[in-house]
Amino acid sequence: MLNNSKWISYPTQPNGFEAINLKRDFNVHNVKRATLKITSLGCYYAEINGRRVGDFILAPGCTSVKRVQMQTYDVTELLDTTNTIKVTLALDWFKGRINWRNSQEHPDWYQALICELELTLENGQKEYIYSDKSWLASMSKVTFADIYDGEHYDSLFEEKYVPCKEFDYPKEMIVNQQGEKIVENEILAPHKIFVTPKGETVIDFNQNLTGYFEFKVNAHKGDRISFSFAEVLDSDGNFYTENYRTAKSEFEYICAEGENTYKPRLTFYGFRYIRVNSFPCEITPEHIKAIVVHSDIKRTGYLNSSSPLLNKLFSNIIWGQKGNFLDIPTDCPQRDERMGWTGDAQVFVKTATYNYDVERFFEKWLRDMKLDQFENGALPHVVPQYWSNEKSSAAWGDAVTVCPYQIYLTYGNKKILKEMYPCMCKYVAFMGKDSTKKYLWTGGVHHFGDWLGLDAPAGSYKGSTRDDFIASVFYYYSTVLTIKTGRALGKNVEKYERLAENILKTIRKTFKEYKTQTEYVLALYFGIAEDKRATADGLAKMIKENGTRLQTGFVGTPYLLHALSQNGYVELAYDLLLQESYPSWLYSVKQGATTIWEHWDGVNDKGEFWSKDMNSFNHYAYGSVADWVYGVACGIKTVDEKPGFEEIIIAPTPTKKLDYLSAKLETRHGEITSAWYKEENGFRYEITTPVKATVIIDGVTYNVEKGSYVF
Ligand code: BGC
Repeated sequence: MLNNSKWISYPTQPNGFEAINLKRDFNVHNVKRATLKITSLGCYYAEINGRRVGDFILAPGCTSVKRVQMQTYDVTELLDTTNTIKVTLALDWFKGRINWRNSQEHPDWYQALICELELTLENGQKEYIYSDKSWLASMSKVTFADIYDGEHYDSLFEEKYVPCKEFDYPKEMIVNQQGEKIVENEILAPHKIFVTPKGETVIDFNQNLTGYFEFKVNAHKGDRISFSFAEVLDSDGNFYTENYRTAKSEFEYICAEGENTYKPRLTFYGFRYIRVNSFPCEITPEHIKAIVVHSDIKRTGYLNSSSPLLNKLFSNIIWGQKGNFLDIPTDCPQRDERMGWTGDAQVFVKTATYNYDVERFFEKWLRDMKLDQFENGALPHVVPQYWSNEKSSAAWGDAVTVCPYQIYLTYGNKKILKEMYPCMCKYVAFMGKDSTKKYLWTGGVHHFGDWLGLDAPAGSYKGSTRDDFIASVFYYYSTVLTIKTGRALGKNVEKYERLAENILKTIRKTFKEYKTQTEYVLALYFGIAEDKRATADGLAKMIKENGTRLQTGFVGTPYLLHALSQNGYVELAYDLLLQESYPSWLYSVKQGATTIWEHWDGVNDKGEFWSKDMNSFNHYAYGSVADWVYGVACGIKTVDEKPGFEEIIIAPTPTKKLDYLSAKLETRHGEITSAWYKEENGFRYEITTPVKATVIIDGVTYNVEKGSYVF
């Protein structure tokens, strides 16, 4: 790929996070078609004759350091007879602050470009422009760009060009674009502009979002624009940024004389509020708008109910996904993390597949996971792997089994199962080796446990659920998913079947009692508990004794409502879903949340923040509750043997606590709807299926063909 082109860069390594430019002038006549193939180390912003190439934000995207994606653009429309192609490059995911590993291991790497412009002339002849020594390089007017720290642009900076240098970097790692590109998706006007008690001017967009902004203003040469970003205001109504930790997340701009219009090119921000530190005049809504960016995934799922609070929760879940699906599934988009945390993706993947078409998105990320899996079978905590650690955490590493299997279930994608099956097998082997006891996963020291569970001992982030219990249950779960995958692929899985039986037996022998809500939940949901009735009663009792409130963290929460509804406690599941006081999903909604919080108590009743070092207001993990609403409350389920919604089960589970609830889901086979309405003597169900379905209403099974039905 790009055989005749060279990696090129600025002759000397920039001192810090300055962006660089590479450019080439050329003349051409009678062009019929022009195609640009391009990729870079660091993110690029490419222009031809001052017009942006393509609409891929932060291209070439975020991948394992073992590969880089190449994009192909039709640029015919941008060409003239005399032309300039100019590419601006920032370190960003390649070696910005986020990529700690590359900074440590490769001090001499920096931004570089490789590209090929193919010009097909009217007469059919082809001409090529390759990246090579003929290009010029300069430092850029983008005088600073980083994923965490933001962007600075100096209109007055003079870009002085010098010959570029060829850069020594392998080409074998270049692959064609695989995921969805990141694009601008929505524009939001300011909701209000106000002055805080501290006297600061703040713009409120009324929605926590991921992206940037665009401004337009008449200014004098040298005027300065400066913005800061925040998700929340503190209890006094002042701008609050401490939860961004070391991420400076700032924007600085030096104006030229006359009209200045700009939007950041090589960074993104997670924010609801912008503080105007400096602007050439009093800022008004006409000067600025927010631009929402995320991977170009298509919305497929919609939920609606008679409860405005619940509807707001659904909206927050969607915004949580939009804000964290930026080429990789990130934990959060604002503080100094924004990484592909495997555990977060694992708990949310099912909901993600209902809400949006994420097949390509996950395929790409899973390939990065495959590349970044350690030799010993362990999975890094974050993919791409930004730091080294040949250990895995239970419920995080299991993304390697859970995510591909879900993509298979939702889209019928066997290709990804085939690609990931060897990784699953290696991971199962790793868990066995990492344990102090056979058929369990005990003694592991790298577990995050029931992360942020509310039964955590004082000062700890980890809930009280035993690490060995979680790890052993996930050892079992991943082995079962490896079996299911192997069967779907026609492999001999006897070895894993025996292993799963032994793990189950050993867990049952070793863990006879459950001590936390999450332990009960896991025991029920993963079929560990032998006496389901008694275990479900135990869980229900614990929840009720806690004031009908949950205590679960990242590990228990996704299965909590399932464990209840599968075992005769549907109403209790609804009570938790509809609980409005802390801790609950609707608590944050009542506190004014517009996305999903990392903590049940991100802001407590008194308006105080949980803690500044781990308090994101845009962490999608707890949004995983939506899969229960789609799959149980509205009852839309995949069938293991007929994945991809080739056949469906629709088994709604209504409650009188709501007047109605509806789900709409666009599948590869057409649209499914499932709605129920409370009526005087029961419920009316309205169901549409695009394929053969098994509809289960009130315990009665109906086998129906494609069509719309009322029950
Ligand atoms: C991240 C999480 C992640 C966790 C590991 C945090 O800092 O934000 O979402 O899963 O670390 O426990």
